Parts: sequence; C-alpha cells; structure tokens
Amino acid sequence: MKSSEIRRAFIDFFAERGHLQVPSSSLIPTDPTVLLTTAGMQQMVPYFLGLERPPHTRLTSIQKCFRTVDIDEVGDESHLTFFEMLGNFSIGDYFKAEAISWAWEFLTKWLGVPPERWYPTVHPDDDFSYWYWRDKIGVPAERIFKLEDNWWGPVGATGPNGPDSEIHYDRGPEFGCGKPTCGPGCDCGRFLETWNLVFMEFYKEPDGTQRPLPRKNIDTGMGLERISLIMQGVGSVFETDLFYPILTEAATIAGVRYKEDGRVDRSLRVIADHARGVTFLVADGVFPSNEGRGYVLRRVLRRAVRHGRLLGIERPFLGQLAEIVIELFSCYYPNLVEQRERLHRVILHEEEHFQRTLATGLARFEALVDQLQHAGESIIPGDEAFRLYDTYGFPLELTEELAREVGLTVDRAGFERALERQRERSRASAGRFADRQRERAGLYAQFAERPTEFVGYERLEAEATIVGLLGITQPLEEAEAGDQVEIVLDRTPFYGEAGGQVGDTGELRSETGVVVVEETHRPTPEVIVHRGQVREGWVRVGQRVVAVVAAERRAAIRRSHTATHLVHAALRRVLGEQARQAGSLVAPDRLRFDFTHPEAVQPDQLEAIEKLVNDWIVSDAPVAVRYQPLGEALAEGAMALFGEKYGPVVRVVAIGDVSKELCGGTHVSHTGEIGYVLLTSETSVASGVRRLEALTGPAAVRRARELVDVAARSAHLLHVAVERLAEEVERMQQRLRAQERELARLAAELALERAVPLVEQAPRVDGVRVVSARLEVPSLAVLRRLGEELRERIGSGVIILGTAIENRAALLALATRDAVERGVDAGRVVERVAPLLGGRGGGRADRAEGGGGDASRLEEALAVARAEVERQLRGEATS
Ligand code: ALA
Repeated sequence: MKSSEIRRAFIDFFAERGHLQVPSSSLIPTDPTVLLTTAGMQQMVPYFLGLERPPHTRLTSIQKCFRTVDIDEVGDESHLTFFEMLGNFSIGDYFKAEAISWAWEFLTKWLGVPPERWYPTVHPDDDFSYWYWRDKIGVPAERIFKLEDNWWGPVGATGPNGPDSEIHYDRGPEFGCGKPTCGPGCDCGRFLETWNLVFMEFYKEPDGTQRPLPRKNIDTGMGLERISLIMQGVGSVFETDLFYPILTEAATIAGVRYKEDGRVDRSLRVIADHARGVTFLVADGVFPSNEGRGYVLRRVLRRAVRHGRLLGIERPFLGQLAEIVIELFSCYYPNLVEQRERLHRVILHEEEHFQRTLATGLARFEALVDQLQHAGESIIPGDEAFRLYDTYGFPLELTEELAREVGLTVDRAGFERALERQRERSRASAGRFADRQRERAGLYAQFAERPTEFVGYERLEAEATIVGLLGITQPLEEAEAGDQVEIVLDRTPFYGEAGGQVGDTGELRSETGVVVVEETHRPTPEVIVHRGQVREGWVRVGQRVVAVVAAERRAAIRRSHTATHLVHAALRRVLGEQARQAGSLVAPDRLRFDFTHPEAVQPDQLEAIEKLVNDWIVSDAPVAVRYQPLGEALAEGAMALFGEKYGPVVRVVAIGDVSKELCGGTHVSHTGEIGYVLLTSETSVASGVRRLEALTGPAAVRRARELVDVAARSAHLLHVAVERLAEEVERMQQRLRAQERELARLAAELALERAVPLVEQAPRVDGVRVVSARLEVPSLAVLRRLGEELRERIGSGVIILGTAIENRAALLALATRDAVERGVDAGRVVERVAPLLGGRGGGRADRAEGGGGDASRLEEALAVARAEVERQLRGEATS
C-alpha cells in the first residue's frame, strides 16, 4: 500500500466516523515557549483547555512534526527528525472505548494487518483500557502489556497530558533479541510502536500539580513512516516511498549504492532524513541561525553537508534533494512549491557558506586529534570546540559526533563558557554603534545623495530595497544571524527619531532573513537608519524586504505626540503667550515638555492645564495634516520652533481650532484616541525653563488607578474620607511634633534629676570637680541643654557627657572659666578621645563636641577623657 493510499484511508476512515479534517499546522508553533511542532495535538491545546471553541468536537489531521531529541541517533534504521503524524482527536466527545475500537478496526480491517501482529500496552492503573482490550476487543491477555511509562505529555513544562495506550507491531522473532523479557517497549527492534492513543484528562500546572481538565479528550498519533514500513513490507522507514526516492537521488549524486557498505548507508540515511527536515523547516519560515529553531536547522543542514562530504560530495547538493522532497510532498503541502525559490536560495547560501570552511575545519580537527592522542588525552578542550564553531561553523554537536567517531569526548562546559564570553563581547559591541557616532559620520556620507523616502505617515508596513548595510566600522555586503547592523532602505515606514519623537522599532523581513530593528535614527535629516540585529538567516545589499513597524508601540507614540501639542496649547492659554517650547520628548505612553517660564507653575495652574487638555480629548477634535508654503503657515498663526530650519513647504498639524504647529511627527487622527493625559511632575531644568512630564493613554489610566488605590488605602488606615486625607495627615503631624517636644522636655528633666547627684558627688581633683558620665537622652539638643545646666550648678569644674543616639556616640565637654585658667582644655580632650569612637571632634577650651559611629566604646572614651582632664589639671603634658 502506497503512503498516499494510507493517508487517504486514514482520513476517509475517520471522516466516516464524523471527524472533520484540519490542515497540518506550521512547524513553528503558536506557543512561544515551544521550539517546534512535535505532535498533532499542539494545535488542539486551546480546545482541550476549553479556551477556544473547536470547529468540531471530532477532528483528524496529518501533522508535520519535527523532534530534536533523536537528532544524533538519526542515521540508524529507525530514528527520524521530521515525520508525519496521523491523528484523530476528540474534544470532550468520545473517549477510550471508541478510540481503542476504531484504532483496532482501522489496523486490522481497513489495512488488513493480521490481529496477532498487534500488542497493545496500557498504563498499570488504567483498568478500563486493559479490560477493554481483553474483553471487548478480544486481544489475549498475554499480548497486553502494562507499562509504567504509558503516559504522554505535556509538551512543555505545563499543559494537557494523560495515560496512554500504545499499539506495537511485532515484526517477527527474526528481528528480536531473543531475551525472555523481550516484548513491546524492548528496544531491540522487533516491536515497533505504531500508534499512540492518549487519554487527555489532566492539566499539569506550573507548580507540578495535576488538575483534571474540564472535559476528557482523545489525542492519537500514528507515525506515517512506520505504518508505511509495515504496509510496504520493507526493512526500514528509509526504504518506504516516503524516503527511498530521496535516498537514491543522494546515492546517485555521490556515485554510491545503498546496502553495500554500512557506513555509506548511514550517511545516506542521515542525508535523506535531514533533506526532508531542512526543506520543511525552511518552507515554514525558519532561517539558519545560532539560536532556537534556526540553530536546529543549521545543525541538521550542516550535518547533512558533512555526511555528503563523507560520501565524496564536494558541491552543493541539498537543493537537488529539496526538489525531490517538493515533488513527493507538495500535493499535501503546497507551500513547498510556493516557497521553492526561497528554499533554494536559503539552502544554497548556507550550504556554500559551510562548504567553504568545512575542509579546513576538518583538517584542523584531525590535527587536533593527533595532538591529543599523542599526549594521551581523551577530551577535546572547550576552547578548541569553540574555535571549530566560531571559525569553521561546526555546530557543537557535529564536533561531538566527529569526536565520538575517534573515541574522544568534548568538554561541553568549556565550550559553553567560551560561547558566553563571545556573547558578552557582542553585547558590548552593540553599544559601540552609539559610542562611535562621530566616526560613523563617514559611513553615512554615501547616502547623502539618496534621501530615504518616508512612507510611515500612511502605513506601518512597506516593501523596500536594502541600499546600505553598515557594520561598526565599515560597510557590509551581507550580514548574518547574530550580527549587529545598521540598514538603510530606499523607502521606509519607520520613523527616524526627530523633533523629540523617538524612532520606531519593528522588523525587516527578507526572503532569507529577519532583522529586529531596535531603534531608528537620522544621521542627517534626509537619511533614515534602522539599527538592530539579524535574528535569523541573512540579509544582503540589494535584497527586497518587507519593513514592518511595531504597531502598538507606534500607536502609543502617536498618542503622546498629539498630547504634546495639546499640552503646549494649554500652557499658553493658562500661563500666557510667553511660554514657548524649549524641547520635548515624545515616547510611547509618556511625554516631557520643556518651556520658558520664569517661575514654578502653581498647582491650580497645573490643574487648569490638565483639565483643558482632557476637555480637548473628550471633544474628539479632528487632527488634520496639511502641506503649505512656510510664509502662509506662519501668517495663519502656526507655531514654529525657535531656531529650527524649515524648508519652503512645511507640514502643518492642526488639532481642531485648538492648535496649529509645524511638525513632522506622527499623530492620532482624532484627539479622543489619546484617551487620557495625566500630568505627573513639574520641575525646573535651567533658569527660566520648566519641565512638565505626563503619562498618556492606558499608562495614564494605570497610574491614576495606582494613585487612587494608595489614597484609598491610606484613608482607610486613618479612618477618614479620602477628601479629608491631607487635612488629617497635617493634623497628625502637628500632634506628633507637639508630642515630640513634650517628650524631649520630660527626658531632659529626667536626665537632669539623675545628673545632679553626679555633680554633687563628683570627686575633686585639686579642688576642681570632674564629672564624666554616660546619660540616655533622646537628642543632642537635650544633651547640650543638660550640659549647660550642670555647668551652672557645678560652680567650678569640668563636665564630660556621653550618650548614644541611634547607635552613634556623642560627646560633650564643658569647663568653667576657672578650670580653664587652671589648664583644662575641653577641645583637646574631645579631640583626643573622639577617635576611640571612630569619629572626630574638638572645640574651644571651655566647650567642645565630638562623636563617632562606634557607641560600644563610649565608657572607655569617657574614662580616657577623665584621665586626660586630670593630667591637664596636674600640668602634665599629653603623651
Ligand atoms: N500526542 C501523542 C504522541 O505524540 C499522540 O505520541
């Protein structure tokens, strides 16, 4: 039975049973967290979860799939990367009984495979399926196996999953290992897992818990290649009609024959599998690159080229194989024909690119192996693997394969480190564009005669031609995935930063690559430059591209720009005509407006400005753009920027009868689109220049909501209405201040009460009383007041007080006049002991202060201070 007949039989069978056929989805899944489409159920996930309504509750499909898990194994008789999956699905409709019965009926009745060839397996806990296979279908118990790993999904970290029942085909004992344990699940090759019936009952949450799905679903998948092998009675999938024409074409190109030499066969199988994979990946829009799915493509393509080399093929050949793939599959996948030219261009480019370095890279690899083996080493250093990757384009996995072939391994961690170092270097170089603006002026000069046509007023997407590609220091002909580039087009919808409005972001897509535009600027007023990174594939000068501006961001910028004109108009009405624009920033969601004004704008004026702006928004005034002679525009009262040069014909943006400005920016068509403007700050930027900042549209709404929430929470805590919040806070502050004053007074009184006995009992040194004590006081002010009081009481003496306030130590030393006359110098005392507290201090002979951050040594400092005073009184010099 030809594979085309199997396809038809499968779809007819399930159509007869009420299933609607849905087309295969792309190999690029819609779920951004999943690299590639690996199963037919992926497009059903939203239906399984009840998020979207399916077109029908019974669906069937033939899905193209690409699995990366086995890439390294491809080359043996059974592993594949690209394959097609025949599937039937129930979205909360039928469940296990029908799924099992129909699979059985299709295999044994429609395809006519003898029942005794089939071995079902079930999950050990799935009693129903076991019973159903045995008692309803009639499979003898000894042919039904319970396997722990009969569970399928989820595809990513989360998602639908459930127990499954697999149907294995027995190819016969001659294929087996003969062990008594041999059965379905044994990897000897005798049993071929052909069809998997998944009973989707659960959803795995990010935290790992399994939640039952709203309804029970069926997801099945049968490998078209495997069922073709069975129906065509051949030895491996590579001999089915799905592969054989590709394999023989490869053999013809290489001048070899299949089934004569095991190593040749292996290479032919690698090439046949990878040729299909490459063709389908490119057709679905994947470009070779060093990341994500682009890297998967690069890996398989380069691996195929290397196996071509093993067969002696030294010229590009994958295009020729792609032609066979197109011939075999385009009646099911018409995009293969539609993409034919692009397919050839992308494949040829990557192939030629790699073939240029492959031979020297292989020579380098061999020299390396010699060296290592001589030295008795068995590991290829990470730096060497990186060099093969970076200089010769060897994907790490290719180096690993080469290493395996000669009994070596690769230091993967070392490779990753080298790769990370390179990524850091390239991140650093991204900044260099901006740093080298002056040197780059020379690069831009070549475009001076070719102004870029800006088409972004009318649309956000346009076709254009690449007229210039620039690296950091020189013009380029071509740039590849990962490269930082600047691109000049003949025409573009991207707005280049000007007049305060930031540049657009977006994408440039050519037939062979995608560039992510991170900013757009104008080195000269006439030339628009797109700066960014090639994300996939490659681009070159002369290529056509579709330039696509990030639409939501542009919409947010338009809102801000029109809002800026409204703010300008409102300012002049409220503050007077002398308020003139001095600068502005128009960004997505926010704006900044600088203007001349001699003093701070008062709160009631701000309120009036904001009110005017929002009233104009509500009036939904039309925004009209006109081109007219400069003189005429100025005569009509259009505002122009002081010091700006204008051409003879100017662009005038008029908002209803509210505002008229000369402006090249992008605007909304009616003010209502802005939604809302919220002034957020008013500050000074220079003398006579003030700055207003505002949020626009949804960002303004979000901010207003936050402020309302904060106010409501605070009012709730204080048990007042929101309107009385400020008043209440003021009242509380007054109360708090009064209490603090009272507290300080009480603390001082208390401290004094404790300190007076200190004075009275202080020992005299030569008739002078010396007090040195630690006190707990709330503030320095209290300490000072206390010190003065004590000095008055002491008559003749020296007072040294220490305290700790919030972990900081403070010292105060006071001496009466007669003590000073007898040699006491308070300044010197403090100067000497403050360092003990980790700080400094000093002052006059009769009064000094000091302190430091280390309060733990306060007692010690007080003792040293006392000793120092005693020394001074005895007339001894300080050591
Ligand atoms: N989704 C199931 C599988 O891929 C059918 O095996």
